[in-house]
Amino acid sequence: MIIILKGLEEINHIKGNNFGWLFGGKHYDFFATILGFGDAYYHQVAEILPLEKGMSVLDLGCGTESVGIAISRHFGRDVEIHGVDLSDNQLGYAAIKGLRLDTSLNLYKGSMDLLPFSNGSFDLVVTSVAFCETTSDVRRGAIKEVSRVLKNKGFFAIVDCAKPILGLDTVMMLPFFMFKETAESWNNHYPDICRENNLILEKEVYIKSYVKCQLFRKAD
Ligand SMILES: C[S@@+](CC[C@H](N)C(=O)[O-])C[C@H]1O[C@@H](n2cnc3c(N)ncnc32)[C@H](O)[C@@H]1O
Repeated sequence: MIIILKGLEEINHIKGNNFGWLFGGKHYDFFATILGFGDAYYHQVAEILPLEKGMSVLDLGCGTESVGIAISRHFGRDVEIHGVDLSDNQLGYAAIKGLRLDTSLNLYKGSMDLLPFSNGSFDLVVTSVAFCETTSDVRRGAIKEVSRVLKNKGFFAIVDCAKPILGLDTVMMLPFFMFKETAESWNNHYPDICRENNLILEKEVYIKSYVKCQLFRKAD
């Protein structure tokens, strides 16, 4: 197993909500499961992604890398997983989970709007409930970076807070999302921003009553 924990010198905390000791690492997984983001959710995300053997996948705001681990359950080492996050606690626990489950994860400390990868490095970029933890500027910067690091015809999946449709879980989760920065925090604005960056919406599907997956494809 290869685990690379690359540290950037300084991470500006204005870049997003950094999940520190109280809400990071194993505490994050505990709270996430209670709030409905357990194995079943990550399995659902992995199932939606247009994955194939041999792909190189980047997870933005990877947290404890539950998305990458769910992908590995389907494909083992046939898919290469890379994750970027701001938080030492999240990355540290992701590394522990990777070792425990014998899953190869490449983890980087950094902000999703400043990616340390060369152009055209990935077949698929995914982000799960992490855009909603950043500012509007960071989200726009991240989309620009995604377009740069994706191969032509590569996929980009934004799984993020969406305008709620009726459901019991909406009522439970609404207090967490109702104070987010702007209306742009709901993912109904991303198709326009993505289109400006050569990423075209292919499909969208609600995973929960307030979480939607939008799948984009990079045009030639
Ligand atoms: C709600 S958690 C989601 C974690 C994981 N994607 C999941 O689905 O379980 C949001 C994550 O985004 C990270 N984050 C926030 N702003 C970020 C940024 N600008 N760049 C990279 N990661 C960021 C946080 O540290 C946190 O781990």
